[in-house]
Amino acid sequence: MKKVILFGMLAVISLFGLQSFGSIGDSNPTIQVDSVCFSRDVLPILNSNCAMSFCHDAISHKGNYILTSYSGISKGVKAGNSTNSSIYKQILNDKMPESPFAKLTATQKTVIKNWIDQGAKNSTCEVTDCDTTNVTFSTIKPIITNNCLGCHNAENASAKIDLSTDKQIDELKEIILCTILHASYCKPMPYNGLSLSNCEQKMIKCWVTLSSTGNIQQGEQIANNFNIRSSNGSESATINFQLDKRQIVAMSLYSYQGRKIRDISKEEYSEGSYELTFPTNNLSVGVYFVRIQAGTSIQSLMFTH
Ligand code: HEC
Repeated sequence: MKKVILFGMLAVISLFGLQSFGSIGDSNPTIQVDSVCFSRDVLPILNSNCAMSFCHDAISHKGNYILTSYSGISKGVKAGNSTNSSIYKQILNDKMPESPFAKLTATQKTVIKNWIDQGAKNSTCEVTDCDTTNVTFSTIKPIITNNCLGCHNAENASAKIDLSTDKQIDELKEIILCTILHASYCKPMPYNGLSLSNCEQKMIKCWVTLSSTGNIQQGEQIANNFNIRSSNGSESATINFQLDKRQIVAMSLYSYQGRKIRDISKEEYSEGSYELTFPTNNLSVGVYFVRIQAGTSIQSLMFTH
């Protein structure tokens, strides 16, 4: 019960968060300039600004640099000595990224400099206590900015996806989630075989699940306290809902693109609270919706598997 209340509160908080959209700024609250972690801070900058197609990815490897992994990046770095590290020299005087790609910001340059001067270690800094209780748009925006913006901005919009404004991120959130979960039917991001950390994935999943534009209600409200969670180690999902009156309710499973996958149940229920479990073991990793229908009214809620 406690969980249900918390979930509701989060949904309200996140709706409020959404209303205060502004434009994306250059400042990045989560970048750790003093104590830099390679996989969280350095790799995303170099991957998204230098390792796009035709540049320093594994296929093009211009100048023999592949900037998508620690070993590739280390070739251009003298640990403890940023001044003599070729990668830092190139970005410091704006030789790289080459035009028309945007130069690195002062903060990004400092991150690279500090990482080299701190010994250029292959550090990960994966958080052990990932706290997703207060996730809002401002929590996930820096993750997108760090990891995606270099390849998805107005000038360089890979796959025509531009993530440079809050509004665009919001409008594309289901497909963003699909790509960062490496769902089988979306292109895995942030590209070049990389993944976001577990905690970053959880944060984005939490924000999208609570604020999804697919969480719709058309017509009269059918159910109260409608929620879905994974159960039995992802073998199944459990739906909870509460009905105020006796009615016939049909439930179906949809893909995030809006394609019906299968019916879950259709029954006449009397007033009361219900719990219903359906198998998810044959679903691939990804983003789904459960849609409930009674007469002409529809309610739908997103969940991930
Ligand atoms: C190194 C460059 C690069 C980075 C970094 C990157 N992307 Fe992409 N992205 C691409 C390319 C290239 C494509 C087109 C892929 C294709 O068609 O094979 C793409 C495609 C996409 C698509 C369309 C996927 C689809 O299935 O149609 C989305 C959404 C996306 N990226 C989101 C992201 C997000 C979110 C991040 C950050 C977590 C990110 N990208 C980071 C290069 C990048």
